[in-house]
Amino acid sequence: MAENRKRILSGIQPSGALTLGNYVGALRNWVELSKDENYEAYFMLADMHTITVRQDPKEFRKNAMDLLALFMASGLDPKRSPIFFQSHVPAHAMLGWVLVCNTYMGELSRMTQYKDKAQKHAANLNAGLFTYPSLMAADILLYQADLVPVGQDQSQHLEITRDLANRFNNAYSPTFKVPEAYIPKVGARIMSLQDPTQKMSKSDPNENGYILLLDPIDKIVKKIKRAVTDSGSEIRRGEGKEGIENLMSIYSAVTNKSMDNIEAEFEGMGYGDFKSAVAEAVVETVRPIQERYAELIKNKDYLKQVYKSGAETAGRTAMKTVSKVYRKIGFIEP
Ligand code: TYM
Repeated sequence: MAENRKRILSGIQPSGALTLGNYVGALRNWVELSKDENYEAYFMLADMHTITVRQDPKEFRKNAMDLLALFMASGLDPKRSPIFFQSHVPAHAMLGWVLVCNTYMGELSRMTQYKDKAQKHAANLNAGLFTYPSLMAADILLYQADLVPVGQDQSQHLEITRDLANRFNNAYSPTFKVPEAYIPKVGARIMSLQDPTQKMSKSDPNENGYILLLDPIDKIVKKIKRAVTDSGSEIRRGEGKEGIENLMSIYSAVTNKSMDNIEAEFEGMGYGDFKSAVAEAVVETVRPIQERYAELIKNKDYLKQVYKSGAETAGRTAMKTVSKVYRKIGFIEP
């Protein structure tokens, strides 16, 4: 079994507090997949990606440790799946550069995340923001990942990763596994609670638009009750009902009930009752995570042990790929 298990790799940036969108779109699925005996999973804190936007060092460190604790509080087991900081595994930078040299300017300039970020960070439009997808491809290809569980907004980055893998394999010889994105059917794109045409994001200037996993419970309830809906009264999907549909997706993700079942369950009920049910279900999911987080974050020695051993295991796997790549491109063996 151990030999032909499929590989999983995914990452989240420690760029601020984790949102319910990150949890529903990614982390929750990581936890499920990592329990499956058929998979061998690696989970990364993508701190090298985070510095494409200038960080306050103290806050950055805190966000990184918080995220590590939240990974485990959400149910990732470091004994089963290595959890590591990208910056602790030099192979990422090593393969990242090779892939930068195999990525076209044209394809990078078509990335929607780059275009978005270029607008938001016009004062610090650094080259890292532009070459970000090549580093992300390295993150994935280093581990010969079969599957990459992410939210919808990462699908373009997964496409370029596949293109780069194929390009390299064709130019040299088969080297990289060509990975597949694993995008959940429900919850792949959780929208802002204040503007359901925008993705839920921690960079939203209106804090009522997002829920943070570490928001106080009463705040979470208030944010859900204040969520923008529509002037109708039915709990169902449809044109003009994006706000309700978003709440349905959140409810579906945290209860595992299907969207059809939710429509049936709330037939004839009003938005107020539905919002109360959503709030209760979200709180039920978040509360135990917050409790485990509070315990974990106190135990810095344990957290350190986790990320150190994670980086060792990840580094061993990743360096095998780097060695292969360096040999194939013609670098003299050291
Ligand atoms: P990041 O840190 O922006 O987001 C982490 C994960 O959360 C998902 N996500 C969402 N899902 C549903 N609804 C939302 N509103 C929402 N917002 C975020 C994202 O799709 C993502 O899965 N580039 C990546 C980090 C990364 C990575 C990797 C991921 C670096 N290297 C290698 C996978 C594999 C990023 O910035 O994600």
